[in-house]
Amino acid sequence: MTALPEFSIAGKTAVITGASQGLGRGIAQVFAEAGVDLCIAARSLDKLTQAAADLRRHGHKCIPVQADITNAADVERLAATAIMELGHVDILINNAGIGVFKPLVPLPGFNPPTARDLPNFFAPTSEEEWFRVLNTNLTGAFLCMRALGPHMLARKQGRVINISSANAAKAGRYRFSYDASKAALSMLTRSMAVEWARYNINVTAIGSGYVETELLAENMADPRLKEKLLSEIPMRRLGTEREVGLLAAYLAAPASAWLTGQTVFLDGGILA
Ligand SMILES: NC(=O)c1ccc[n+]([C@@H]2O[C@H](COP(=O)([O-])OP(=O)(O)OC[C@H]3O[C@@H](n4cnc5c(N)ncnc54)[C@H](OP(=O)(O)O)[C@@H]3O)[C@@H](O)[C@H]2O)c1
Repeated sequence: MTALPEFSIAGKTAVITGASQGLGRGIAQVFAEAGVDLCIAARSLDKLTQAAADLRRHGHKCIPVQADITNAADVERLAATAIMELGHVDILINNAGIGVFKPLVPLPGFNPPTARDLPNFFAPTSEEEWFRVLNTNLTGAFLCMRALGPHMLARKQGRVINISSANAAKAGRYRFSYDASKAALSMLTRSMAVEWARYNINVTAIGSGYVETELLAENMADPRLKEKLLSEIPMRRLGTEREVGLLAAYLAAPASAWLTGQTVFLDGGILA
């Protein structure tokens, strides 16, 4: 069977943040297999270097850059390194993200959701916790788009894929800062899609449902919470990192050239 050329991303170049593990690692894996040269970023160098070495086995470049996406100087260095090492950047994937899962203030008469208390679960949410989530999930994407935007605008070519969440459209308890950050990221996606459309730059987002990564490890380790999570999903299973990677490959490919501004929800039916 001949592969359709419109679905090929071979020969492209991509920057993926938070690609040392989880969804970012899964996306990087699919892209490496598809023939994309990569620049991957995260804060912890060990895991990142190991991921880059594994990804290079597919025969394409994979440059690890230690960077904190909440730090503008780090992000500028990441963008400059990617352009220098890869020649140019076709695709930016803003994937790095975190969650602080707790109520805004303690709820009277409330039972803890897990047998083990989550850190600071019974203290009011601090400004530090609120800004940590917003700075990573929203400001990080802003900084990366600001750093690579001029490059993409000058080339009149680019794809930006923001890893949002089903929680951009559906609220959950004890995750208000995460939900707000992802809803804002999906709106940022729409705004930038409109602002950059005439420069042939598509800006989209993936609204992922639950995928078993370290972000969810705490929840999945608790049988009561695991059952509750699965009961929310009509397909009764978590998504896989590979399924998210395959959607990202489509959003980076010529086949999706007329798709911009959308958050594509990949969630086993949660939002249906
Ligand atoms: N797992 C899910 O079910 C799910 C569902 C919907 C959306 N998402 C979204 O998918 C994305 C990835 O989540 P995940 O589940 O794969 O999480 P994860 O396993 O915890 O991985 C997060 C990645 O981001 C990096 N990172 C975190 N903060 C960073 C920072 N300030 N600067 C640079 N890198 C940073 C981490 O590396 P370092 O810690 O070394 O920096 C790691 O590589 C997030 O945006 C998350 O909100 C996940």
